[in-house]
Amino acid sequence: MTTTAKPDAVGVARTRIEGHAKVTGAARYASEIPFTGLTHGWLVLSTIARGRITAIEDEAVRALPGVLTVLHHGNAPRVSAEFFGALGQPDPIVEVFQHDKVPHAGWPVALVVAETSEQAREAAEALVVRYETEPHDVVFAADRPGTYTPEGREDSKGDLAAELAASAVVVEASYTTPEQHHSAMEPHAVTVRWDGGRLEVFDANQGSKWVADDLARMFSLDPETVHVRSEHVGGAFGSKGLRAHHIAAVMAATELQRPVRISLTRRQVFAITGYRSPTAQRVRLGADADGRLRAFEHEAQCMTSNLREFVEASAGYGHAMYATDALRTLDRVTPVDVATPTWMRAPGEAPGSFAVESAIDELAERLGLDPIALRVRNEPTAAPLSGLPFSSRNLLGCLEEGARRFGWSERDPRPRARREGRWLIGTGVAAARFFTGAAPSTASVTAEQDGTFTVRIAAADVGTGARTALTSIAADALDVAPERVHVRIADSDFGPAWVAGGSMGTRSWGWAVMAAGAELREKLVAGVDIPADGITARTDTAALIATLAEKERHAFGAQFAEVAVDVTTGEVRVRRLLGVFAAGRIVNPLTARSQLIGGMTWGLSMALHEEAVRDEATGGHVGADFAGYHVAANADVPEIEAAWIDDPDPDDPVGIKGIGEIGIVGTAAAIANAVHHATGFRHRDLPIRPDRVL
Ligand code: MOS
Repeated sequence: MTTTAKPDAVGVARTRIEGHAKVTGAARYASEIPFTGLTHGWLVLSTIARGRITAIEDEAVRALPGVLTVLHHGNAPRVSAEFFGALGQPDPIVEVFQHDKVPHAGWPVALVVAETSEQAREAAEALVVRYETEPHDVVFAADRPGTYTPEGREDSKGDLAAELAASAVVVEASYTTPEQHHSAMEPHAVTVRWDGGRLEVFDANQGSKWVADDLARMFSLDPETVHVRSEHVGGAFGSKGLRAHHIAAVMAATELQRPVRISLTRRQVFAITGYRSPTAQRVRLGADADGRLRAFEHEAQCMTSNLREFVEASAGYGHAMYATDALRTLDRVTPVDVATPTWMRAPGEAPGSFAVESAIDELAERLGLDPIALRVRNEPTAAPLSGLPFSSRNLLGCLEEGARRFGWSERDPRPRARREGRWLIGTGVAAARFFTGAAPSTASVTAEQDGTFTVRIAAADVGTGARTALTSIAADALDVAPERVHVRIADSDFGPAWVAGGSMGTRSWGWAVMAAGAELREKLVAGVDIPADGITARTDTAALIATLAEKERHAFGAQFAEVAVDVTTGEVRVRRLLGVFAAGRIVNPLTARSQLIGGMTWGLSMALHEEAVRDEATGGHVGADFAGYHVAANADVPEIEAAWIDDPDPDDPVGIKGIGEIGIVGTAAAIANAVHHATGFRHRDLPIRPDRVL
């Protein structure tokens, strides 16, 4: 940063700009914006797990009160499948009502639109859909037939067999994680209307320009005529991209020439908005007697649909973790008759770190070494697989600071050494890593006549505080107080921008805001008159980002957990969680802390609670709601502390790395390792349910 008269806004704790509007209800979410003449769509999802629709008896339903239309494969307009989204091919579930096939349970088969939501729901539930069923199979299991290795999903260096043979100790273990769901507080919703030749879309998404471009492609529209806004989003975590309800709503709004709103129920969110695949993983570690790793092998298997190969790439976690002479990683995938999984917070790293950081703990135990000392011994000087340098690493700094704060040195390493009444007490540690980076984005900054500045960027604030962070960044870029800066986001008219995903949002957008701000300052030479529409600078960072040197870019962390295990009931209580992160310069300590403890809370939930269960007979979920799918509630969450060490990214204009996903990585392993320390029993299957503890 250049020296300025004003202290930096970046690094100062700031409450959310839209916080007051949110808690007073003034902030409108996608399903809350009022429209004149609004109609309501209700999706009908298939009740069979595979087969064909033979009839949709919509005549009776069309006669019900308030019903305006029923859309299905027999009457819906064709859409182009020749799309290719900003983040790769969208989920095939977006191709709704294009054919009579039912590839999995919950496939959208019809949309009923009515004057009120209640009328639409009643009619949708009354709609008779006849099917011809075919045999289905939704079972995911380790090494089951049909499992294959996708192109480019195997990596290796060195001679694994030789290094395993030369190792003094070899640890080999299998781990599983179940299907998990995003469970954002705000269910997916969209409102669509045609307005003067423009398609106006009020949405909850992670990238408005991304959704707009995909909609334009699918409906063969000029991208200029599609306008997507997503002002407030109540959580997303990877699930809020283009989805089936968007397509259905556009079809209906086009037919009716009236505004159409579709809000998904929680069960529909479970069925059609993606999820994290279950995994089956095997880790083999070989080491010398002093703990130096010779061999590191990680094979992971995940599930996908029969429609699209989506890989939960768990085995990539070790590519940038520990020094080793030989390394082999492999991701395999098993297609079955289920909906397609998608990105979910720390895709790959969340399940992958559970297996690897548990296995490291097992190796430490076998070697009689402290698990932190074992990690320190295997700290690499360059990335283990690629050999590239790290932009910065600081994992050891996190372990050291975490150990100090947590009181690790007082730990008795023996399992089952601490008891308080019926509770066995244990502590555990795990490391964490997640990719960071920047992607091209465009931003504009306008100097207004009244001395304020307006920033426009198609960023998304999915509840993280991105809008507030960008205000601080813009204030520093312009060298003015944050109060003089107004940041407008989540509007596809603002041009291409990276999405709220991949832990790359704030960094990518911040870079664009910095660049536009610098350009504006050059235009604002002394004495310049500002016209009524202001003076604007607009920048695209594509060329800037292209100059970045090739390095391994990651955020790192160390997770510590203390648990109490009741061996008479099998109950596991987490008593303390501490995460210390090296995740770049922290823009807003207040919201950053919330985001990190949010990730850690999810890691706790992953360790102890979350598990989506499929019914083999129906192919659908059992208990697809918050009664059946357990997420950690307040009473499950103890004292959580998130801290960070100074770790500015040397190649970012603000020093940002990214904190969106690192919080969940390693948390479940730290808890599982603590349960082992408490009880002497190793849990390799998540969640650590009471029946598994007993
Ligand atoms: Mo995230 S899984 O990058 O939305």
